Amino acid sequence: MNKRQARVFAIASTALATVVFLGLTVHSHTQFDELTNAENNTPQVQSGRDVWHRYNCVNCHTLFGEGAYYAPDLTKITQLRGEQYLKAYMRDPSSFYDEQRHRRLMPRQDLSEQEIDDLIAFLDWVSKVDNQGWPPRPILVTGASIPGTDFGLPQTSDAGASASLPPGARPVSGQENPIALGAAAFRSVAPACNACHSTAPGVNMAGPSLAGVAARAEKIIQAPDYQGEARDVKGYLIESIRSPSAYIVPGPMYSANGQSFMPNTYAHDLSAEQIEQLAEFLQTLK
Ligand code: HEC
Ligand code: HEC
Repeated sequence: MNKRQARVFAIASTALATVVFLGLTVHSHTQFDELTNAENNTPQVQSGRDVWHRYNCVNCHTLFGEGAYYAPDLTKITQLRGEQYLKAYMRDPSSFYDEQRHRRLMPRQDLSEQEIDDLIAFLDWVSKVDNQGWPPRPILVTGASIPGTDFGLPQTSDAGASASLPPGARPVSGQENPIALGAAAFRSVAPACNACHSTAPGVNMAGPSLAGVAARAEKIIQAPDYQGEARDVKGYLIESIRSPSAYIVPGPMYSANGQSFMPNTYAHDLSAEQIEQLAEFLQTLK
């Protein structure tokens, strides 16, 4: 290559790179509205964002992996916890502490009810931004990362196709098997059951361990103080999913004022068939 050719080459390749760069930048900008659900960015979402900044939540937490790494990433928190739990948590985080399990504490922020509602709207909007899989690592929420298991990681992939069963469940195979479908739903519905429940004995996270739940259910429905409507174990399990407050498992971190912190949205969001399959699966957790 002589001098002139080299110059032409340099200019041409710079020009090409510039065009590609500008093209990609423009392309990204045309996608922003769609990726960020711009139409759902309501005034309440914006107030919630202001509350988020006012209280410096980002000094401890991350969103989209950005922020401080002292406390869990909250990008998907509304899909992991649901409203009842989040409201109760933000009113008074200290009531969720267990000395043995938590060493990092969240100070009480003295948020008003309005601020809490706005924050939840904001966090819910955040959870629906198409973050293209970022951050890629598991979100460390309370007690959700139990060493040696993959629990706490809701799997949004195709439910039922390859349901690997948690410990304690009877092994089953086949896509159409209701138990296998229930096991898959346990990880894939929103909020995912396994974000709050382990199936390993004694592992209580935001909700109680579901190991042995079938045997417990048998006793619960026969107890004189049981106020629910279930007549058998499966009925109890279905009731637990459809109306969590019908019977409340005793425990300081599970409910307040007779309202369970388990989401009460499943009766509406899941099909009767899915709830049936979940109950079939839970019934195997003898
Ligand atoms: C001084 C640090 C700090 C600040 C500031 C802070 N948090 Fe936290 N937060 C924590 C820690 C630590 C945890 C995890 C505690 C645990 O493991 O139970 C937590 C947990 C949470 C959880 C529950 C996550 C779960 O696993 O269920 C929510 C929701 C939350 N914070 C929201 C907020 C919001 C909203 C703000 C701002 C108004 C905020 N936090 C400010 C430290 C903080
Ligand atoms: C935000 C956390 C959370 C999520 C998500 C959640 N639960 Fe719960 N669950 C709880 C809490 C807290 C309790 C205990 C209070 C009560 O009895 O409602 C509970 C109780 C239960 C019980 C009764 C357990 C017993 O020993 O009697 C069953 C069954 C159950 N959940 C099933 C499910 C299923 C199935 C899903 C998913 C469809 C699910 N949960 C999702 C928090 C959660």
